[in-house]
Amino acid sequence: MSIKRVFLVGFMGSGKSTLGRLIAKDTSWSFIDLDDYFENKHQTTIANYFELLGEEAFRKAEKETLAEVLNMEKVIVATGGGTPCFYNNMDVMNENGLTLYLKLSPKALVERLKSSKNVRPLVANKSGDELLAFIEDKITERTPHYEKSHVVVDSETLAMDAYTMVLELAGVNFQE
Ligand code: S3P
Repeated sequence: MSIKRVFLVGFMGSGKSTLGRLIAKDTSWSFIDLDDYFENKHQTTIANYFELLGEEAFRKAEKETLAEVLNMEKVIVATGGGTPCFYNNMDVMNENGLTLYLKLSPKALVERLKSSKNVRPLVANKSGDELLAFIEDKITERTPHYEKSHVVVDSETLAMDAYTMVLELAGVNFQE
């Protein structure tokens, strides 16, 4: 059976959206950013959604958003950093496509989050040592979920243009 969708998973700031966009540009596949999809669907920002309804409501709605992309074909989906870690989302993604985890160290993530313009409610008020400690804790908690991915990539060393090759080796046929 051919692979019809790829799910990019990893912590906030790991480069899922950048990578997804690049691969889609190079292939005939489409790119979906699950956070953007969520915001369009709910006509509000994730930061607002968190503030108004809380994280539990966000996770429920995020699961529904994920369910909506499961029947799309030839798509690369950049998931939210927490998507694989709630409900059975990781199993659902593994059953419906190829999952790739972009693995980065907490230190590298701090650097990338510091220079990111995105508003992320979980880290919005944190910086320096506090941000590093938060990431270290969260990564420990989330790693068992992330590492259920079909492919785990050391994103600190792999060049961006090598990912398409990695995905093809894992069985994705971008020519189809
Ligand atoms: C979250 C990551 C965010 C977004 C939300 C929660 C998380 O996505 O879904 O703010 O729990 O790690 P990105 O990983 O795209 O920043």
